[in-house]
Amino acid sequence: MDKIIIEGQNPLSGTVSISGAKNAVLPIMTAALMADGISRIDRVPDLRDTRTMIKLMEIVGAKCSFEKGSLKIDGSSVDNPEAPYDLVKTMRASFYVLGPLLARFGSVKVSLPGGCAWGPRPVDFHLKGLEKLGAKITLSSGYIMAEAKRLKGAKISFEFPSVGATGNIVMAAATAEGTTVIENAAREPEIVQLCEYLNTMGASIQGIGSTRIIIDGVDSLHAADIEVIPDRIEAGTFLIAGGLLGEIELTNVNPSHLDSLLLKLKEAGCGIHTSANSIRINPADNLKPVDMTTAVYPGFATDLQAQWVALMTVASGSSVITDTVYHDRFSHIPELNRFGANIKSDNNTAFVRGVNELIGAPVMSTDIRASASLIIAGLIAKGQTTVSRIYHIDRGYEKIEEKFRALGANIIRDNSPG
Ligand code: UD1
Repeated sequence: MDKIIIEGQNPLSGTVSISGAKNAVLPIMTAALMADGISRIDRVPDLRDTRTMIKLMEIVGAKCSFEKGSLKIDGSSVDNPEAPYDLVKTMRASFYVLGPLLARFGSVKVSLPGGCAWGPRPVDFHLKGLEKLGAKITLSSGYIMAEAKRLKGAKISFEFPSVGATGNIVMAAATAEGTTVIENAAREPEIVQLCEYLNTMGASIQGIGSTRIIIDGVDSLHAADIEVIPDRIEAGTFLIAGGLLGEIELTNVNPSHLDSLLLKLKEAGCGIHTSANSIRINPADNLKPVDMTTAVYPGFATDLQAQWVALMTVASGSSVITDTVYHDRFSHIPELNRFGANIKSDNNTAFVRGVNELIGAPVMSTDIRASASLIIAGLIAKGQTTVSRIYHIDRGYEKIEEKFRALGANIIRDNSPG
């Protein structure tokens, strides 16, 4: 099984180009299933999750070709509205086929996602929302079955602005009869792009980027092309590493998607310079401890919480980090403590007492973002770190070790057997 081996404390410098956003491309791919014809998606990151979604596209009957970051999906041949357990269990975002396939076929069968490394992740908002649109939902042998001849517009108010449920309902409602209003909708840039994409496919969606999305159902959608937005979580991961390790510049990035992180980095003592599509960071001379609480967009992303904890392990004092989006997302803490970090946790809060230095250690990835935090810790630490089970990181980061190596890090992938 592949490992990443890092000799820490090499300074970073130079430029890194940010890839297209994983969390944007996955729902966009499922939206393309709603149209007859070929949709082209550019700037698609070559990730394990993108490949899993391509497999799912092919299982439902779409034809896909993926070359040099450009993905073509032909939705004309889609004929099997079913997402099997084997795929859904490896990638929860497979659940995004629920809304589009139900809208297009009037029935769909999708495996119920299980728990995940960071606690229970229910899908009740997706299902309640679809029921409001008139779908009949049943559960049998671990599969959700949804049926509706044609969905009907309705008013849906989410208890929490779920990214996935907003995406699923927007897609389902795009071709429903009448108007759907989603209150307390997610405002994440990836949802904004999904809505904009649906509009280029012929949908009529207003209130995009606000907490109230209004969808006037249309009869059908047509194929359309799009370029995926930059991955703000990949960008944030590199910025957090740069916060301590050297002056680096990110290109092909959207700084406005990263406002809350940039504020926190400045508070910690880092220098930040932005242009329309680049961000330069100068590391802090004396990294200050900065408390942080995750929140839905435009708050601090839960997907950058683990990386922030890694940075704070060597700040000059104590910090308190709370995750309000996922209450159980702290599997990185015991691994970071293996580097000599001093972190305690209580419910959804981590208490980090900065130490002078981390010492390299063998550690294990548990999920995508936790893995990124271990790589950051390995880059900061003195001596050698081995990160195993890195298939998690390959789900969400494109060539992360090559990108860090190009910035001067001493980091390699070891794929020797055993
Ligand atoms: C998406 C992102 C993930 C990110 C998360 C929060 C993708 C593919 N994944 O996940 O990287 O960490 O947003 O920004 O885009 N909830 C329910 N019932 C539901 C749905 C959600 O209770 O039906 C709760 C969740 O348990 C969680 C919160 O709502 O506490 C937010 O989850 P949600 O926004 O739905 O996350 P995902 O779409 O799964």
